[in-house]
Amino acid sequence: MLVERDGLVDRLRGARGRFVAVLGEAGAGKTALVQTALADSAWGWCEPLATPRPLGPFRDIARALWPGEPELGVPELRERLLDTPAPLVVEDAHWVDEASADVLRFLGRRVAASGGLVVVTARDELAADHPLRRVLGDLGAAVTRLEVPPLSPAAVASLVTGVDPAEAYRLTGGNAFLVSQLAGDRVAASVRAKKAKCTPKPSSSQEDGPLSATSSWNLSLPSAVSR
Ligand SMILES: Nc1ncnc2c1ncn2[C@@H]1O[C@H](COP(=O)(O)OP(=O)(O)OP(=O)(O)O)[C@@H](O)[C@H]1O
Ligand SMILES: [Mg+2]
Repeated sequence: MLVERDGLVDRLRGARGRFVAVLGEAGAGKTALVQTALADSAWGWCEPLATPRPLGPFRDIARALWPGEPELGVPELRERLLDTPAPLVVEDAHWVDEASADVLRFLGRRVAASGGLVVVTARDELAADHPLRRVLGDLGAAVTRLEVPPLSPAAVASLVTGVDPAEAYRLTGGNAFLVSQLAGDRVAASVRAKKAKCTPKPSSSQEDGPLSATSSWNLSLPSAVSR
């Protein structure tokens, strides 16, 4: 369950005829927010592939919306996307390719007239010449920007029961991903501890090391967050 996101969920659910950019740091909770708010949406993903995949997210969306149909040419793809009633979500648009950025611009300029909804999620560390930044600049006032902020100290405290709340906030800075890692780490540690109490001890060579406060606090940062 998401904490502290009711307002953002409502804004996404209420958005029609808009191009919405969901922005925030790595691990802020952008994906979780859009998944919660827009259950019946069509999703496409951008990736930093070594072999580029032009229009990758829109190919994903086309496959989801029109399964089994042959691949459409770009002009027809754009028109059909424009007529799609389901919200279109382009994930991780900080990795968007130029061809997909063109389609985003095309859709963004027409979405008010079509009454659809186009959502992009992106980390907010875009260089000045990034294709998404250019699209957002070109669309101007047509874009609704939803910033996903770090969780508050109170929210962090509610998610990591059993951990000193101030320390949990100091370690995570309210980053939802890091909080989830910390919470999961503590849950895993408590399950292991309970299991260890109920299970006869194996021979010393197979035994896991004893649980220590430091091992259970060992946060694994995703490359995305630690970059
Ligand atoms: N408001 C929240 N309350 C509780 N947990 C949350 C909240 N937001 C996100 N999470 C959890 O934090 C983790 C990271 O969230 P998510 O993947 O949505 O981040 P992201 O911003 O999309 O990251 P990235 O930039 O890497 O794509 C997930 O496990 C998610 O369930
Ligand atoms: Mg994400």
